[in-house]
Amino acid sequence: MKVYSVKDLLVEDLLLQEVSVKGWVRTFRSNRFIALNDGSTIHNIQCVVDFEKTPEEVLKRISTGAALHIEGTLVESSGKGQKVEIQVTRLEVLGDSHPDEYPIQPKKHSLEFLRENAHLRTRTNTFGAVMRVRSTLSFAVHRYFQNNGFNYVNTPIITGSDAEGAGEMFRVSALDAKNPPLNEDGSVNYKEDFFGKETNLTVSGQLEAETYAMSLGKVYTFGPTFRAENSNTSRHLAEFWMIEPEVAFMDLDGNMDLAEDFIKYVIRYVLEHCKDDLEFLEKRLLDEEKTKPQNERSSMTLTEKLHFVLDNNFKRVSYTEAIDILKNSKPNKKKKFQYIIEEWGADLQSEHERFLVEKHFKCPVILFDYPAKIKAFYMRLNDDGKTVRAMDILFPGIGEIVGGSQREERYDVLLEKVKTMGIDEKELWWYLDLRKYGTAVHSGFGLGFERLVLFATGMTNIRDVIPFPRTPQSAEF
Ligand code: 4AD
Repeated sequence: MKVYSVKDLLVEDLLLQEVSVKGWVRTFRSNRFIALNDGSTIHNIQCVVDFEKTPEEVLKRISTGAALHIEGTLVESSGKGQKVEIQVTRLEVLGDSHPDEYPIQPKKHSLEFLRENAHLRTRTNTFGAVMRVRSTLSFAVHRYFQNNGFNYVNTPIITGSDAEGAGEMFRVSALDAKNPPLNEDGSVNYKEDFFGKETNLTVSGQLEAETYAMSLGKVYTFGPTFRAENSNTSRHLAEFWMIEPEVAFMDLDGNMDLAEDFIKYVIRYVLEHCKDDLEFLEKRLLDEEKTKPQNERSSMTLTEKLHFVLDNNFKRVSYTEAIDILKNSKPNKKKKFQYIIEEWGADLQSEHERFLVEKHFKCPVILFDYPAKIKAFYMRLNDDGKTVRAMDILFPGIGEIVGGSQREERYDVLLEKVKTMGIDEKELWWYLDLRKYGTAVHSGFGLGFERLVLFATGMTNIRDVIPFPRTPQSAEF
């Protein structure tokens, strides 16, 4: 007999048919009503057992978390909360769940407790919903780019260059850590290492993606990136997924248009394809908001927040304008910011970004034309000689969600920048080559996938939107 998913059983017209389904018990009430879930949807299917015909030893084994195979007739349900249910004719316990030990009991667990049980937490409604939304979002990412003529490029995860400067890196080495070969000066001799040089996990696929943009035109990467920063915040991971489009013949304005169009597309896609999960997450967020003091509660529901992004143009503001706004802002004047903005050139902290988005503009903001000295070497220098064609997109509740730029396409200017920033130009010979052979204006950006998932699901800690988070002092599972 065909095994149906719970999702199909709930939407297809199968009334009075014999059906078969496999899943895990969420609850078992009155020795009669099983709520079964198989991960295909947030909803359970109710399966009604005839306890008089079911052997006692089988009934005993039906407990929260157990895996079951159920066959029966799909009938209209007279109970509350579901339209249909299965009258069970055959029930097989595929896997017991040892009820005294099973951690995921049918009650509210804290997110911290569930993080410690990340191997089982997707059996809860919250994490089931979050991970289905994550999966749908990643499909939407590919759909957007594939529909718009982009080629998907898999840039390397192990990199021999440390030029990006986006953060501390994790070393990749096959040397004996206790007894590495040494140079005369006592430093480790990486020439004897696996790759014959020092290598690390990549912080970004951008530099390699640029080489592909300068031949395939429009490309994107979507893969894991790694940063060994000791940032124990609710928005940082040591391993996170980044989406990085890179486009030849596109300037910064085009880059902003692309980023805005792309983000709106993927959000619209989840709104259309994850209705049930978003409805659940919206209720979850409302409950969470109720636990906060009145003045810290969000005035928008999750769906309103998502529509707010769709329905508004992202506000485009230069760094210089933003600094003026911040300098004259109340929290700056009253010294409420932890980092007071005193002069042009200051690096913006998350508190400043959130002020601009949440208090001042009250919509997503694209900041552009940052001071050259606080941005990466590869960003195109403006004619003023002190700002670069950088852009960051700031989101309510999240802060920075996108970082990108128009790239420096002029060989001499780039070489000069590489030298003044103390980067070894020999390491970047291939990157500089792009500026020697058929150089052209090109741009791209990086969007932190987990920050997007945070926004779309209304979750507040980035550790709760990636299956197995890697953070300082934590790499369980
Ligand atoms: O601004 P970032 O560092 O930009 C780059 O790496 C560029 N090479 C991208 C490009 O132009 N192709 O990072 C881009 C985004 C950030 O805006 C943020 O959303 C996310 O990556 N991000 C992180 N997400 C989770 N944990 C971290 N530690 C992150 N660091 C950056």
